[in-house]
This record gives sequence, structure tokens and C-alpha cells, in this order.
Amino acid sequence: MAYSDKVIDHYENPRNVGTLDKGDASVGTGMVGAPACGDVMKLQIRVNASGVIEDAKFKTYGCGSAIASSSLLTEWVKGKTLAEAGSIKNTQIAEELALPPVKIHCSVLAEDAIKAAIEDYQNKQDVNTQQAQSA
Ligand code: FES
Ligand code: FES
Repeated sequence: MAYSDKVIDHYENPRNVGTLDKGDASVGTGMVGAPACGDVMKLQIRVNASGVIEDAKFKTYGCGSAIASSSLLTEWVKGKTLAEAGSIKNTQIAEELALPPVKIHCSVLAEDAIKAAIEDYQNKQDVNTQQAQSA
């Protein structure tokens, strides 16, 4: 199957590969797997006090489209609020990368990963608030 130029670019020069400190309260981690193919994507965000994503990193064990989707997503979410990042649709990713129908689930993985990362971050804040209240 032919990959689009944008997929190849992100695949050959992936942006923001790496990890953030999972134990840091300002970091949210999303880890998701694709039932369709068994690929796994880990996406992490660092959120500042105003609720803006300052940094994003990913590690993807998967196909070129999954790597390109996560690479593109980390670029998109930087500087966005959690609400903005959480409303990114896999269809936007698929469209930007010109993914063929059989590769749509790879972009779904990226949407699921950012949502999971946001949820993880928010859960951590809830725990911190509870601890502060009971202290
Ligand atoms: Fe294996 Fe996507 S099906 S990498
Ligand atoms: Fe499964 Fe791309 S994530 S083929």
C-alpha cells in the first residue's frame, strides 16, 4: 500500500518521540491498543497551571500510519487547552494524513490516546484536590 507523503514525512522524522515523567502530577499518560491489529500507542501530555498543554510525547509500537498519527497529534495538541485537544477527531488526522480506509483505525488510536491522557491528567488533579481537602 502506498503511504502519503505526509505519512512518510512523519514516519521518517517523527516529532516528539519520547516519554515524560509518569509520576509528575502535571503529566497525563494515555496508553491504548488497537484491537484491529494489536498495535500500541502511548501518548503523554504536560499541562500547565492554566490548563494548556505545554509538551507532548509519544511512543508507538505500530504501523507507519499509527506512528504518523501520533506524531501529528503531538504537534497539534501543544499550546491547546485540554478541551481543545480533547475535541480533536480522528477524521481530522486521517484527512490531514490522507489515510486510506483500512488505516482509519490507526488515527482512531491517536484520538483514543489523547483522550486517555487527558482523563489520566484529570484523575490526578481530582486525587490531589481530595488529598488537599482531607489534609
Ligand atoms: Fe500491524 Fe498495523 S496491523 S502495524
Ligand atoms: Fe493498526 Fe495502524 S494501528 S494498522
